[in-house]
Amino acid sequence: MSPLNIVVGITGGIAAYKAVGVVRALVLAGHDVHVVPTEGALRFVGRPTLEAISRNPVHTDLYEGVAEVRHVAIGQAADLIVIAPATANSIAKLATGLADDLLGNTVLASEAPVVIAPAMHTEMWRHPATQANIATLLARGVTVVGPAVGQLTGADSGPGRMEEPDVIVAAALERAAATAPHDLAGRRVVVTAGGTREPLDPVRFLGNRSSGKQGVAIAEAARARGADVTLIAANLEVAHPAGCDVRQVSTALELQQAVTDAARGADVVIMAAAVADYRPADVSESKLKKDAGEGGMTLELVRNPDILAGLGHAPHDGTLLVGFAAETEPDDERLLALGRAKREAKGADVLVVNRVGWTEGFASDENRVVVIGPDGEIVTRAHGTKSSVAHVILDVVVSVSTTSAVAADTTKEHGTT
Ligand code: CTP
Repeated sequence: MSPLNIVVGITGGIAAYKAVGVVRALVLAGHDVHVVPTEGALRFVGRPTLEAISRNPVHTDLYEGVAEVRHVAIGQAADLIVIAPATANSIAKLATGLADDLLGNTVLASEAPVVIAPAMHTEMWRHPATQANIATLLARGVTVVGPAVGQLTGADSGPGRMEEPDVIVAAALERAAATAPHDLAGRRVVVTAGGTREPLDPVRFLGNRSSGKQGVAIAEAARARGADVTLIAANLEVAHPAGCDVRQVSTALELQQAVTDAARGADVVIMAAAVADYRPADVSESKLKKDAGEGGMTLELVRNPDILAGLGHAPHDGTLLVGFAAETEPDDERLLALGRAKREAKGADVLVVNRVGWTEGFASDENRVVVIGPDGEIVTRAHGTKSSVAHVILDVVVSVSTTSAVAADTTKEHGTT
């Protein structure tokens, strides 16, 4: 998912301390989070905590920042509003459309989807007034998460407990994804992910540390944006994404066959897999014995085909090729130069430069990339979760495809060759 501008409203209930977990999870997922607590919420959780965790200033006062029309600006900029906890009082105010504090104004000034996580005592939750307010909010399209059934603040238990932060975050992001643009609808996107393995014998292989997380995140993101996705999966360490046509491969030669088949007629091919450049010249039918070599062993390797270069140098009109460059180069300028050279050498339209190392890139949930476009210039940089990086890469795919489609149309109109 592209990074979103998310407002987290916190109202004055004891569960406010758990809202810190909601803010943290959204920030770690790469979103820009603005916390708007009510005065009551600040009795339960401190402003410095909210500012530190959200990495943004926190305001509550309607009469501060009047010159910048803050009460309207925050709401207008929001892609999503999450209110957790939502007390009985705040639910009543939302249902009536009251705007006597910054949060109330923010909600009224926004067209973003609203997700609320009620938290209160069971009697208050069951009260007909609260139930009527919830019905009003549901009819207005608000997503209500919970409340859960369980131990409440006192000794009592029942429905009224705020849902756990991870449940609220998942529901909120799902709601945002459902309203996200389907800008890849009708496009066929092929993604390779994972790392190839080149067998030496029935029990050993030459492999690499790619987990497949970034490629899978791209496949998932493309699916969420409406694409018809084929995922060529090389030894993934993560679950297969839902809704994609997954083709499992292991070696570079198998990956080459699968991607060449899938690329026919595809709109986009994204080569996120780490492909072995060499494979053992001979694969032993039986397990190699350690005393086969006296004191040491020499492996003879033969070169694997460069799959991306093969696609890039063959005619591929109408198929946008995106390659990756995994580089250990520490210097930024030299890293970019390597990326630019790799894009040209391989005939890729777009190249995503990714620094890797002992502690960077592989298996982590975060990534930092520089994206180089068709003219060799930096189109964008991205840093965040592999999912948010995936969306940034797809934003580039969409904009480069649109630009080339417009360019092709203009060429037709002007009759040039
Ligand atoms: N790639 C490929 N076939 C190969 C090797 C790499 O298609 N035999 C693709 C990868 O999927 C990636 C891009 O080429 O999209 C760059 O891969 P990378 O490992 O960074 O570069 P190499 O081509 O292997 O070059 P080097 O190892 O010398 O940096």
